Amino acid sequence: LLASIPSIMISLETTGRITKWNQAAESTLGVSQQDALGGPLDALPIAWEHEHLTQAIHDCVSTLKPIRLEAVSFTRPDGQPGFLGISVTPVSGPKRSHQGVLLLGTDITERRNLETQLRQAQKLESIGHLAAGIAHEINTPIQYVGDNVTFLRDAFGNIQEVLKLQGDLLSRAKGGPLNDGVSAELDQALAHADLEFLSEEVPKAIDQALEGVGRVAKIVRAMKEFSHPDSDSKVAADLNRLIENTITVARNEWKYVAEVVTDLDPSLPPVPCLAGEFNQVILNLIVNAAHAIGARISGDASQKGLITISTHSLPERAEIRVKDNGTGIPEGVRAKVFDPFFTTKPVGKGTGQGLAIAHTAIVKKHGGTIHFETEMGGGTTFIIQLPRAE
Ligand SMILES: Nc1ncnc2c1ncn2[C@@H]1O[C@H](COP(=O)(O)OP(=O)(O)O)[C@@H](O)[C@H]1O
Ligand SMILES: [Mg+2]
Repeated sequence: LLASIPSIMISLETTGRITKWNQAAESTLGVSQQDALGGPLDALPIAWEHEHLTQAIHDCVSTLKPIRLEAVSFTRPDGQPGFLGISVTPVSGPKRSHQGVLLLGTDITERRNLETQLRQAQKLESIGHLAAGIAHEINTPIQYVGDNVTFLRDAFGNIQEVLKLQGDLLSRAKGGPLNDGVSAELDQALAHADLEFLSEEVPKAIDQALEGVGRVAKIVRAMKEFSHPDSDSKVAADLNRLIENTITVARNEWKYVAEVVTDLDPSLPPVPCLAGEFNQVILNLIVNAAHAIGARISGDASQKGLITISTHSLPERAEIRVKDNGTGIPEGVRAKVFDPFFTTKPVGKGTGQGLAIAHTAIVKKHGGTIHFETEMGGGTTFIIQLPRAE
């Protein structure tokens, strides 16, 4: 019976002596029953978090309360890193030799990997969606960079002609008196090139081309930083910069319905942050704000709304506000907006995941808070606070 249990099952006496070691323990941990039985757990050649485990067993024995270890990292027998979920349960019995703890565990590496992949997939999905808008955003400046460079090419052709004739004229002038034919030709070329016009327009064309290149570079840089993969641990980040990037990559989501203005506190110190997750939250809030404004103005582009994003430095926290003048959130909906899959939008526009993801990211991952203030017809403000120290 014990052999057929697919979970790791290990029992220990209070002295630490191993009295049971099933087949799953053998195969998952790479130690045979023969080598394991009778010895103490921490003497076995297993690369896992010994201290963490020993502490849990000790606590379990002294409190007689079960302890759950969510993810103990270990090295699998094939040398690959993995994770175990382990529960430590106290066992009591009449005889001292019956007392001890029971360890039940499973290799949860696959599940952890899937969770990571799912998060990544959600992020990629929104990047995929943004990509179409970004292509559009890049297309406009690229087009006028192209137009301006074409103009410069033609202008340079005309100027070159003038220069060549001037060169001819000069060398002939050196050779002796000039005839009228050459200077007439030059006059013609000068009239054709319209140097006055060119000396006015060429610098403008160069400036415009540079401006376009600058705009493309800004979008590409923002995109690169926006989609930068997160490490597992938080890094001190400039929230203002992350917000600016997100506004840039999301431009196509809001520009038809709203203006975005920012009021970013320049004295905001770096905040420990998972930048990718934070970007996702701000993106979700901006998209929601744009939807709420879109719903209020329903297609009337002359009624453009306003999204205001501000940051504030509080004594121990950083605050971010995303304010819109959209529809507001109806009373009956307010309690549900953070629920996973709750949406009031038609299929294709809403999935109900935006605020659920935002809540997890801010509250669970950053130890912060997120809430909103809303007024029907007035608009909604989402308020995020993040601790400034870990
Ligand atoms: N700024 C906002 N103004 C009005 N309603 C909002 C706003 N943000 C969120 N909501 C409401 O909360 C619901 C859930 O939002 P969310 O989790 O982002 O899912 P989705 O946007 O896919 O519907 C929305 O369907 C909408 O009814
Ligand atoms: Mg949403």
